[in-house]
Amino acid sequence: MSGIREEYRMQAAGLSFEHFGALTEVEAQERILDARARLGKRAVLLCHHYQRADVYRHADLTGDSLKLARLAAQTDAEFIVFCGVHFMAEVADILSRPEQTAILPDLAAGCSMADMANLAKVERCWRELTDILGAPDEKITPVTYINSAADLKAFCGEHGGIVCTSTNAPKIVDWALARREKVLFFPDQHLGRWTGFKKGIALDHMAVWDPDLENGGLTPKEIENARILLWKGHCSVHQMFQVEHIKQWRAQYPDGQVVSHPECNLDVCRESDYVGSTEYIRDTITEAPANTRWLVGTELNLVNRLAEQMKPQGKTVQFMAPMVCMCSTMQRIDPQHLAWTLENLAAGQVVNPIRVPASEAEPARAALARMLEIS
Ligand code: 13P
Ligand code: SF4
Repeated sequence: MSGIREEYRMQAAGLSFEHFGALTEVEAQERILDARARLGKRAVLLCHHYQRADVYRHADLTGDSLKLARLAAQTDAEFIVFCGVHFMAEVADILSRPEQTAILPDLAAGCSMADMANLAKVERCWRELTDILGAPDEKITPVTYINSAADLKAFCGEHGGIVCTSTNAPKIVDWALARREKVLFFPDQHLGRWTGFKKGIALDHMAVWDPDLENGGLTPKEIENARILLWKGHCSVHQMFQVEHIKQWRAQYPDGQVVSHPECNLDVCRESDYVGSTEYIRDTITEAPANTRWLVGTELNLVNRLAEQMKPQGKTVQFMAPMVCMCSTMQRIDPQHLAWTLENLAAGQVVNPIRVPASEAEPARAALARMLEIS
């Protein structure tokens, strides 16, 4: 071990991030490897597919949100270092055992879509629905996309509702509609709309609930008529993809195939050959025959990784939008933050633990457990 590293190691205990922010890429990478070697099996690194390459290379396990939730529930590691966004680390905390600790290397790594719904607005929505429909607990199942804060998952747990991911949304909506006549789907209107559309629910039976307007901006008749109330939320990364991008590409490559994430708008999903989660997108392209050509509507880090990995098989993988669009919040988990987190752990200091209070964790766990059972 070099003298410099030894010195760094001594500094690490309890150090604030400012000592790490100035590390060069090479230094940060070295220090991650060194800290990981010292931690051994005590720490597991879970990485979402959108994670930047310089962090993803350190992953023990990778996946989409559903797979990562399952992996978090199965690991025996003392520290679950989550290279993803805040709601994913919360799910890891909720599903892991009390003696395990979920850690998010940068607390600013949130999800802008998850922030488009909050408990106060969802509770107000529920009150307004009560006034119009009476007893919503008998009429509406709240379904929250996993991209949401723990207190919204808890809300669903307390009101007979459930969590879904982009993988299992169709099964979850089936489950919900079999129990009650309507679904309140938040925060992503696009995943909700695509799921309803695939179930054969007419578009005029899916109404957008604007949380900033009284009664969601809907008339009582529109609310009565809706089978799915779609919260007015979206992912700004996936809204960059437009159906025109697909049409122009198809004109150039008529034999090419298009795969998109269901957070894209309905027109993009309808125009795509395949629609599914990040894991599904990865599997679809990986399992495709050699020498095929793909246009992909999801975040750039994943598309770039697939493009590199598929080159040896002669597969061409292209990004759908003409402009760069990354998940800028997930991008915040960089090698410097990872080095800081791991060195502190190796020195006995837990930084950035994600701890959901028991009063929220318990009902949220119930909503997640329903989801895991069904999917
Ligand atoms: P996946 O569940 O498909 O990984 O999606 C998570 C996400 O945030 C996509 O934007
Ligand atoms: Fe959230 Fe969009 Fe980033 Fe996914 S890509 S984590 S939905 S902001």
